[in-house]
Amino acid sequence: MGKDLSQFIRNEAFLNKVVSAEEAASWIEDGMNLGMSGFTLFGEPKEFPLALSKRGEQENFKVNLYTGASLGPTADQSMAEAGIINLRVPYQGNAIMRGKINNGEIYYIDQHLSHTAEEVRKGSLGKIDYAIIEAAAITEDGLVIPTGSVGNSPIFVEKAENVIIEINTTAPTAYEGLHDIYVQKAQGERKEIPIYNTGDRIGEIGIKVDPAKVKGIVLSEQPDIPSPLFEPNEETQKIADNLLAFLANEVEVGNLPESLAPLQSGVGSVANAVLNGMQKSQFKDLEVFSEVLQDGVFDLIDAGIVKFAAGTAFSLSKKRVDSLAEDLEKYKDKIMFRPQEISNNPEVIRRLGVISFNTAIEVDIYGNVNSTHVNGTKIMNGIGGSGDFARNARITIFVTSSLAKNGAISTIVPFVSHIDHTEHDVDVIVTEQGYADLRGLPPVKRAEKLIEIAHPKYKEQLRAYFEEAKEKVGGQTPHILEKAFSFHNNLKENGTMLFEDDKIKH
Ligand code: COA
Repeated sequence: MGKDLSQFIRNEAFLNKVVSAEEAASWIEDGMNLGMSGFTLFGEPKEFPLALSKRGEQENFKVNLYTGASLGPTADQSMAEAGIINLRVPYQGNAIMRGKINNGEIYYIDQHLSHTAEEVRKGSLGKIDYAIIEAAAITEDGLVIPTGSVGNSPIFVEKAENVIIEINTTAPTAYEGLHDIYVQKAQGERKEIPIYNTGDRIGEIGIKVDPAKVKGIVLSEQPDIPSPLFEPNEETQKIADNLLAFLANEVEVGNLPESLAPLQSGVGSVANAVLNGMQKSQFKDLEVFSEVLQDGVFDLIDAGIVKFAAGTAFSLSKKRVDSLAEDLEKYKDKIMFRPQEISNNPEVIRRLGVISFNTAIEVDIYGNVNSTHVNGTKIMNGIGGSGDFARNARITIFVTSSLAKNGAISTIVPFVSHIDHTEHDVDVIVTEQGYADLRGLPPVKRAEKLIEIAHPKYKEQLRAYFEEAKEKVGGQTPHILEKAFSFHNNLKENGTMLFEDDKIKH
């Protein structure tokens, strides 16, 4: 490799532990629980899972894979393809893995991302046989410096019987000092998490590890994995404009200052369009208290609009991956990564009064949101951190285009086919048609607002369902149960949610 290893492994207790990825992979046995670093493709080990997958092509074994969140081609995809995953927890976003979950080859627990560390601490996911953590360095005092995500690595390292560290010698050295590692005590022995401002530093710069547990150190030169670049298009721009109009109105009526409140944004095209839109807005001195930091956050820091951003992981396009080392030097005092049980912690989200916006797959006329399942059965990705934020935010916003699949699907439906966020948690829904502010409204008034932001071609049939439900059934939340899934049934039978004529009525 030609690099001076003592630069990366600065504590002698670890130097003689270097092994090949193949050797480390040979230690894994059938049925083991692996806690791996990694979140939105950043900070995951790469050589180890590739070697394990290769072994899986020759041998029969399966492991249970726990992570921070989604891993990329070298881990989630290669391990799914090799058929070596029995159970996946708590989030994934890989097409191959999704297919295997949906056809029953892989079990999946889709979990709130702030919950996994608690489950590991309580032992309800079993013991962690191996923690496998990508690191930029091991310091003189034996702290493991994570790379582009923290995720659940601290709790995996604390609870694991064995630890494998994958040192990535191409990781920017500026990762050191970026993280704030604070590990909670067991429930019942805790005090409050002392974060009173977005940027409060309360922990250490790395993860403490008992050297005796470190069974091996693997070396890697594989760079961070970029995510697709989400340039705004006409539709995502309209959704972003509507969301920004809602926030501007909140400022105008005096509910929020021009610095708003700490922002959490989901990942993807709409989130990036909103962040882009903020560059031209009246908002200033913004803070980001989020799970994932994507390209738009850097652009806002460059524009002087965001003054601090905290999260647990990056999700960056190739352009930003290529300039990461430079950017990290530049933004070092403006960004921070925490463990995901802290970045997504209900106590802190509620204290800081975070404004949260995430994407919905579908929303029903009373404001229940489905973020995870297509037609109520097939998983897309998972709830991720959306529930951690939605339940506890100061304002909980969901965004979606009003149509999917070229108009065959209305994303506003009578009844969602799966519920991730109940009407009790949801404040505002935004589509390209406008925004529905549901705060302070009872269900029947919410329905009026939500039907208004449905696509015009579906408004009439949504209204017909709502009027019939009110008239024939009534109650607090009027529904005709035998017709509540009529849109979904029509999609299944006729390839569209749009009723053609009188023979198929809601
Ligand atoms: N019914 C069926 N399919 C639908 C649909 C609906 N109502 N709405 C969207 N889809 C499909 C799209 O057509 C697209 O399909 P494709 O991959 O075959 O093209 C796919 O779902 C993704 O939709 P897209 O419009 O590209 O949105 P996205 O990439 O922004 O993803 C979510 C939307 C909801 C899947 C994604 O945001 C997610 O997984 N959210 C849950 C986790 C979360 O919120 N994390 C935030 C961090 S805290």
